[in-house]
Amino acid sequence: MCGIVGYVGSRDTAQVLMSGLSKLEYRGYDSAGIAVVKDGSLDIRKAQGRLSNLEKMLGDYEAKGATGIGHTRWATHGEPSQRNSHPHSNCAETIAVVHNGIIENYMKLKQWLISEGAAFSSETDTEVVAHLINHFYDGDLLEAVRSAIGRIEGSYALGVVSENHPGTIIAARKDSPLVVGIGQGENIIASDIPALLAYTRDVIFLGDKEIAMLTRDSVKIHDEYGRQVDRDTYHVEWDAEQAEKGGYEHFMIKEIHEEPKVMTDTLKIKDGMIDLSQIGIDEKAIADIDKVGIIACGTAYHAGMVGKYIIEDLARIPVEVEIASEFRYRKPIIKEGQLVIIISQSGETADTLAAMREAKKCGAKIAAVVNVVGSTIAREADAVLYTHAGPEIAVASTKAYNTQLIAIYMIALELARLKKSIDMNEYTRLVDGLSEVPKLTEKVLDTKGQLQRFAAKNFHKGSVFFIGRGLDYVLSMEASLKLKEISYIHSEAYAAGELKHGTIALIEDGTLVVAIVTQGKLIEKTISNIKEVKARGAKVLAVCFEGTQLAEDVADEVVYLPKADDVFAPILTVTPMQLFAYYMSVEKGCDVDKPRNLAKSVTVE
Ligand code: F6R
Repeated sequence: MCGIVGYVGSRDTAQVLMSGLSKLEYRGYDSAGIAVVKDGSLDIRKAQGRLSNLEKMLGDYEAKGATGIGHTRWATHGEPSQRNSHPHSNCAETIAVVHNGIIENYMKLKQWLISEGAAFSSETDTEVVAHLINHFYDGDLLEAVRSAIGRIEGSYALGVVSENHPGTIIAARKDSPLVVGIGQGENIIASDIPALLAYTRDVIFLGDKEIAMLTRDSVKIHDEYGRQVDRDTYHVEWDAEQAEKGGYEHFMIKEIHEEPKVMTDTLKIKDGMIDLSQIGIDEKAIADIDKVGIIACGTAYHAGMVGKYIIEDLARIPVEVEIASEFRYRKPIIKEGQLVIIISQSGETADTLAAMREAKKCGAKIAAVVNVVGSTIAREADAVLYTHAGPEIAVASTKAYNTQLIAIYMIALELARLKKSIDMNEYTRLVDGLSEVPKLTEKVLDTKGQLQRFAAKNFHKGSVFFIGRGLDYVLSMEASLKLKEISYIHSEAYAAGELKHGTIALIEDGTLVVAIVTQGKLIEKTISNIKEVKARGAKVLAVCFEGTQLAEDVADEVVYLPKADDVFAPILTVTPMQLFAYYMSVEKGCDVDKPRNLAKSVTVE
């Protein structure tokens, strides 16, 4: 939700800011803007819509050696428009602010600031920050920012510049991500690492309520009380190239092709055993676990749903999976010491973070499955199992989901071994099976031609139903989300056996039904459900393992997966479902990587 960037150094600041924003546009694209302090005065330029509009507006504008901040917006307060675009400033336009987050008490602050003489020019919550800083400013910008954030309730990652302080950027954060890149004779801030990789791989993750002061040659970090603090520098292992399209038409298809590799990177198997030593598992404590909670949002929640099915199946431990935005406002029943697994690609999702803090307050032990190293969830969890998906740029999550499943299967198998709910022969067979999954996914990628042709014939469908039973049902949820978010086609996931209890009324001539049929014990049952929809005119695309007999009168088209144990079906099925959504979106001419109304890393409620 919104991306911010800031630069101080000797390069062309406008160009650095625009290049940084291009890497952050996945976080929002309702408008973009930059503010630079150049030749002793503040210059703000902004444009509604995509970054390309701002780029056109800037033309050959240069700001060599200037100090600047930039923003790409996902609108929360106030419609997407020129006047609501960031950066925002005080009346005299001496201070400029970019912001990612939500200022919850902005109405109260706004009324007070108006009574003090401030005049507002936008409907945003952010503008109060610029006026507040101005209100407290008496020559010390750092102190003014510190006083201002002391009055703010809500979440923020802020970048602030002032024409009275050329060569200085003040940055602050609470509950929204902010990374400081440490360069040579230059320093940079950004909402996410890809925006600063062209300049440095040494980064500091700013902590909650910390304030950083950046000049060309120094970065000083202060806590909320104004005390200077030391923070560790992380060296980012992946390079800028991994955050580029690398010859693919879209990030999404590139990221789908990376799935075999990133799953291999995430798998930790040593001498035939799952190796979770990195998260410091207390084997005795695990043997005592009698209930597991899983909390996440969106795609990560769907990975959690698969987790419920396999942990209950393999480890025989009851699992409760909850959507984070629901969990955080309930009175959850959590026993002291209960294991709660938090799943998040970004490690910054506001609802997931708040739910994790809530679970912690209730005494839960938190194990987080996170992709972004050093993210807030990773830092606050008791233990972290990192997925190694690398940077995921397309707004719709693909490879991160596959790696979340790998992590969840590793946890399920370890719980099963420690609980002795499966014997060692079965454990070894399943660990071997899991280690084969990346290779099988390479084969699954061969289905793309078939799915592209199928999409070319079916992209005009107004509605698509995904059905399945057991693990096929939980995978359907993710398949359906992927399709709707990037192709804007209405779609629903249904437990195949539940369809007849109402939803089948929506099936009519030509309705597209995608039936996932991988679970041996349930195949006959699902085939009966396919026949029910076929009898009402549905067109059926089925997905099943090679060797499954699905006659053409049952399905109109069949996508075959290489044979594996049924338990691994979700990891193998998701790739063709992602490809299906991708090609439907491409055929419809949608903006695949940046679907409307969405943003990656949802750092607002
Ligand atoms: C959908 C998607 C979202 C995210 C959700 C949680 O393709 O990407 O549903 O899965 O916003 O995000 P993380 O995993 O970063 O907490």
